[in-house]
Amino acid sequence: MKEQHNILIVGAGLAGLYAALNLAPRPVTVLSPMALGYGASSAWAQGGVAAAMDKNDTPEAHALDTVNAGDGIVDEDVAAYVTNAAKYHVLELTDVGTPFDRSADGGFVMSKEAAHGFARVVRVKGDQAGAAIMKTLVEEVARTPSITVIEGATALEFIVKDNAMQGIVVSEKNQTPYVIQAKAYLLAAGGAGSLYLKTTNPPSVRGLGLGMAARAGAVIADAEFVQFHPTAMDVGLDPNPLATEALRGEGAILINKFGERYMLDIHPLAELAPRDIVARANFYQHQAGNIPMLDTREAIGAHIKDEFISVYRYCEQAGIDPVTETIPIVPAAHYHMGGVATGKDGRSSIAGLWVSGEAASTGLHGANRLASNGLLEALVYAATCAGGMMQTIDAGLGQKFVPDLAVPKLGFAGVNDTAVMALRKLMSDKVGVIRDGEGLAKALRALRDLDIKYGEISTNFDNMLAAATLIAAAAYNRRESRGGHYRTDYPDKDANLQRRTEITYAQALALRDSL
Ligand code: SIN
Repeated sequence: MKEQHNILIVGAGLAGLYAALNLAPRPVTVLSPMALGYGASSAWAQGGVAAAMDKNDTPEAHALDTVNAGDGIVDEDVAAYVTNAAKYHVLELTDVGTPFDRSADGGFVMSKEAAHGFARVVRVKGDQAGAAIMKTLVEEVARTPSITVIEGATALEFIVKDNAMQGIVVSEKNQTPYVIQAKAYLLAAGGAGSLYLKTTNPPSVRGLGLGMAARAGAVIADAEFVQFHPTAMDVGLDPNPLATEALRGEGAILINKFGERYMLDIHPLAELAPRDIVARANFYQHQAGNIPMLDTREAIGAHIKDEFISVYRYCEQAGIDPVTETIPIVPAAHYHMGGVATGKDGRSSIAGLWVSGEAASTGLHGANRLASNGLLEALVYAATCAGGMMQTIDAGLGQKFVPDLAVPKLGFAGVNDTAVMALRKLMSDKVGVIRDGEGLAKALRALRDLDIKYGEISTNFDNMLAAATLIAAAAYNRRESRGGHYRTDYPDKDANLQRRTEITYAQALALRDSL
């Protein structure tokens, strides 16, 4: 079966839905792997949207903080572009009903997060921003007749000829996979956190979009840079619930089972040191069996119930009362700075394919994303991609319908749980917070073994393997430590490597097979 649609959006998180709304009243089709509003990382975001809203703050100051956090490899033009657009998009979200926290005089209540020089994060009831923004967008999508959402539909494979999109193979439960063709395609399928055993991301966020685009030949950028959140809860839940950095912003401290506040000896900013430094400190404490813990008791006390609703609920689920008890934590994969390489217009290297949100690597985040720039980037580039797709179609340059396009032979859409767990453990053990050349080589060899054993059976697993292989190969190639990428065999930064990287899946496979 083949279907022709005007614009096809793969993914129904913030980037996908915001693009669809920006495209209205043009007809668009959105593939949502789960019921709309579920399964996307955006809805789990506890931070907010970073934007210079205060009259004493500026986009330039926000861009500078972004560049500094990114550890030398942020694209400064992209940082200027995104931070300049930030206020506009916060106001757009407000107009459609997002209930950002407001002060008595109607202004926005701004929070400060690590590495921001100014309080510039708009939030909703403490840690509810992602959920509230997604709820607002889902309601708006339901009111917008030009948007067709196919729930339960997963993209399995891109059909690409001569480096141009021809269609996407789609799998829906209990149906034979079918092809959708469109004039323009937007990949907004999220990140790759659940390729790791310890992650704050929903289980379905496991590099499928990245892997699919890479397998179709797209150029991938900065794949080695994975951000590990320092304070995911270590309470026997998978995924690991996030304990937002804002808790530390409010004065919560990190201690170990001996009651030592270890960050004091590590960085002058202690618990509010850059995220990668806190993540490594927590990792070493965890490895040593010292049980790192977040202590909110004195700084936040009983307010945690009302001010950090999600965190409090997660603690309840785990049987912890954060008013009187400490919260065990562990670093966990949280955000992928790498992704499909996109230009200033959100286009990938494949004609007809735009990418936005965490699946893209625009150059905004460099080696280390500034807190709350993730949702912001998704908004700005969703709108940019929407504009670019419209212009392209209006100029008669959209992709052409290919009448005799066949559905390629594919594996199953499902995955083997044993294989997935083996992959996740491998990524956490060898491609995680602390890396070295030998471990990365072992990881690449093990990925080849997994490919031989399970690869062709499941196309979704192929996509996961591709994403994992790209991350491991790029990490192997970068012989230095920078931002979220830390190697014990190259613990310092190398000025000669102060640049972004690009890799194709063919190159990653060649490296894998040479080891
Ligand atoms: C957090 O709230 O700690 C996470 C915010 C972010 O990742 O941007």
